Amino acid sequence: MATPPVKKIACIGAGYVGGPTMAVIALNSPDIEVVVVDINEERIKAWNSETLPIYEPGLDEVVKAARGRNLFFSTDTKKHVGEADIVFVSVNTPTKTTGIGAGKAADLTYWEGAARLIASVSTSSKIVVEKSTVPVKTAEAIGKVLKRNCSDPSVNFEILSNPEFLAEGTAIEDLQKPDRVLIGGVDTPSGQAAVAALKWVYNHWIPVERILTANLWSAELAKLTANAFLAQRISSINSISALCEASGANVQQVAHAIGTDTRIGNKFLSASVGFGGSCFQKDILNLCYVCETLGLREVADYWHAVVTMNDYQKQRFVERVIGSMFNTVSNKKIAIFGFAFKKDTGDTRETPAIDVCKGLVRDNAKVAVYDPKVTSEQIFRDMSTPKFEWDRPDYSRSHTRLLDNVQVCATPESAAEGAHAICVLTEWDCFKHYDYAAIYEKMTKPAFIFDGRNVLDHDKLREIGFITYALGKPLDPFLQKVY
Ligand SMILES: NC(=O)c1ccc[n+]([C@@H]2O[C@H](COP(=O)([O-])OP(=O)(O)OC[C@H]3O[C@@H](n4cnc5c(N)ncnc54)[C@H](O)[C@@H]3O)[C@@H](O)[C@H]2O)c1
Repeated sequence: MATPPVKKIACIGAGYVGGPTMAVIALNSPDIEVVVVDINEERIKAWNSETLPIYEPGLDEVVKAARGRNLFFSTDTKKHVGEADIVFVSVNTPTKTTGIGAGKAADLTYWEGAARLIASVSTSSKIVVEKSTVPVKTAEAIGKVLKRNCSDPSVNFEILSNPEFLAEGTAIEDLQKPDRVLIGGVDTPSGQAAVAALKWVYNHWIPVERILTANLWSAELAKLTANAFLAQRISSINSISALCEASGANVQQVAHAIGTDTRIGNKFLSASVGFGGSCFQKDILNLCYVCETLGLREVADYWHAVVTMNDYQKQRFVERVIGSMFNTVSNKKIAIFGFAFKKDTGDTRETPAIDVCKGLVRDNAKVAVYDPKVTSEQIFRDMSTPKFEWDRPDYSRSHTRLLDNVQVCATPESAAEGAHAICVLTEWDCFKHYDYAAIYEKMTKPAFIFDGRNVLDHDKLREIGFITYALGKPLDPFLQKVY
């Protein structure tokens, strides 16, 4: 078979998906030039510096190996998109905040902007790849935008759906050894040639049997469905965590018992203060909206319950903290261990920590936050940003009263010094190994630990003198008396 003519790839959007995915493609495909472009100059500057704009284990090494060889980061969107054979689009697809579908539907402004740009600079035919997570049938709409806005009628655009399944924190591993890559295309000769070209790119390092093909709509829907199923598991075990606390069962024992059933499996069964990240909530809301617009109200309601349960879990955690501390946290310092939405990432988008901290601060607590990877600037920004606005590159933030009660600390010890309580909101491994006896000494008594991730050894903590709350487990004898 002749080698498909893919010499240059451009990717619009240098974020958590665009950056790592393109870096891994470049690393494994030295015969292809890969350029990642973005409107955000600072982000591009950071990708070209020693301090990359995002933290992912292994990312530095991959970028260093390929950058300057066949991997480039640039703000010259027109040039690189114009020259590319394949253009990946990996821009934000936030939840709409105003207008029809506000709070549910995906806002495709950035996607459409990218499509208009591709059309305006294209003088040769291109394969346009949806990497962003989009609603079903977006490819059809984007196809029209591309066709109607390109002045050269000889230019042909083939649209493929190639949703990204990476998980932050393990992105490089997921990209190097994916469970599968999914490519959706239309069933025409040119559509199938485009599928073959993208398959050829991935086949540089991924065996063909792991590269699945589907029609465009199935591929688009598969991504929303995968995230809905993953989030559903978290909400399911979280619902059981509430039942465990009320009944005296232990959610870890329940999870272990059901996880050994091969039909259920043991992954995604850790009870926690709730799921976060940029995708789960956004994609479920989007799925619900798609169902509603297609007249499938019961289906939409079914999936919406996953988000309702997640909000309930965060609220329940805040109520546990306040209730345990004698129904008032007013003017009490509370140390927050972990602000990222999961370990091994600095990403805070939709992190449960935002809702928990806001909940505590609204009750006038003073939160002192420590996270090994999240900057203080990011924490203050998150605490002053209304829900859903974080995903807009052009949103401007303002100071709010909430910030007066937020402090960001450089060490866990300084966060906990003088505090009445510690809330563990991210499962960073380092949290397991602190000298909690020394930390306890410097806290206000009685000293509480609320473990929203079930990562600490509560027997040891109770021996030290802490009153502890382990999510989904039988209550500390002290708390049994309080409730
Ligand atoms: N983060 C994840 O784990 C993940 C996983 C799978 C899929 N996704 C999906 O991938 C998409 C991107 O997510 P992300 O986390 O990388 O977002 P991100 O916010 O980190 O990156 C998006 C980038 O696109 C840029 N951008 C927006 N419009 C642009 C334009 N017209 N031209 C050039 N650049 C533009 C922004 O400046 C930003 O840097 C979303 O649809 C998301 O749902 C994300």
